[in-house]
Amino acid sequence: MQDLTIAVVGATGAVGAEFLRIVETRYPSLPNLKLLASSRSAGKRISVGGKELVVEEATEKSFDGVDVAFISASSEVSHRLAPAAVAAGTVVIDDGSAFRMEDTVPLVVPEVNGADVEWHQGIISIPNCSTTPLVMAAHPLHQVNPIKRIVADTYQSVSGAGSGAMADLREQSERLLDADSNTSKSGKGQIAYNVIPQIDRFLDTGYTFEEQKMRQESQKILHAPEIRISATCVRVPVYISHSASVHIEFTEPMPVAQARELLSAMPGVTVLDDPETGEYPMPWDVAGEDDVFVGRIRQDLSHPNGLVLWIVSDNLRKGAALNSLQIAEELVSRGRLKPKHTSGVTG
Ligand SMILES: NC(=O)c1ccc[n+]([C@@H]2O[C@H](COP(=O)([O-])OP(=O)(O)OC[C@H]3O[C@@H](n4cnc5c(N)ncnc54)[C@H](OP(=O)(O)O)[C@@H]3O)[C@@H](O)[C@H]2O)c1
Repeated sequence: MQDLTIAVVGATGAVGAEFLRIVETRYPSLPNLKLLASSRSAGKRISVGGKELVVEEATEKSFDGVDVAFISASSEVSHRLAPAAVAAGTVVIDDGSAFRMEDTVPLVVPEVNGADVEWHQGIISIPNCSTTPLVMAAHPLHQVNPIKRIVADTYQSVSGAGSGAMADLREQSERLLDADSNTSKSGKGQIAYNVIPQIDRFLDTGYTFEEQKMRQESQKILHAPEIRISATCVRVPVYISHSASVHIEFTEPMPVAQARELLSAMPGVTVLDDPETGEYPMPWDVAGEDDVFVGRIRQDLSHPNGLVLWIVSDNLRKGAALNSLQIAEELVSRGRLKPKHTSGVTG
């Protein structure tokens, strides 16, 4: 990874900042980094691993000499810049929903379907930040006892909506601290002291786009279109880490002890589950962690083949930046990503 030239589109955003924090700790001798954002940020300086780097405006011409580009901005930006990057011989790892469901684009969580990077045609997508922890927990269980149905209810932090939403929570909380909660209705977009049962736009089905993403993306990553999935995605006044209460129906009964064993053996998953001592994962503690945490593992008393899990993960790390970097590492380990100056790939 250290030999690569890496472009980070959205370097000034919530995911971009986390990405740079991970890069500086994971690769102390830094790769060659090119920080890109909108014209608003051009000229801004960001310190990465003790080096001061200057942000440039991202344009279609930004990718000459770039081996891999991580795009964490918006679907519009991805649609505009990814084809230009691919044309320049750059592998694109895209964080948004722009390409995830396209047949020619692998949607990858390396611990689950790392081999899918093999068939990329220039662009690889990472899933939505609630889908990733769900498939990380579902995969090892599904391997031994096929899953028939999943019902997932999420509790998603404001950082999932970017740095602007984090600032909103701070400002609203300060403003409401002394307010009389009985005297006013919540305003549009009020997240402080509130929960919002809508993330992204509503679809004709009555579900939101976020809920549809969890269903479709999980099926694609698990290579299991037959699994029936229903999600309710809710924004909660938490800064970092998404949580989910997940009910899974298997083909056969799944004993709790077996589920615990399978989840404990899954790379990137930590089981934190001790009802006697009150141990279970919570977003405050999981923020900054790489692993997906699973607790409250219990039999679903409403179904003989049912299991209930509580899953928490840092949406900015495994839900976004870390997963992107792991995809690049997967490509490198498979010999599918090399520095252009040594591989002879034209720019
Ligand atoms: N947050 C999460 O947990 C999460 C998880 C998975 C995926 N994602 C996806 O990652 C993407 C970024 O999310 P975020 O939370 O980091 O959002 P954010 O904090 O709002 O940051 C947005 C970034 O995009 C840049 N940008 C905006 N317009 C641009 C343009 N025209 N050209 C180039 N860059 C532009 C911004 O640059 P300026 O500072 O110059 O405006 C900023 O760096 C989204 O697609 C999101 O769906 C987020």
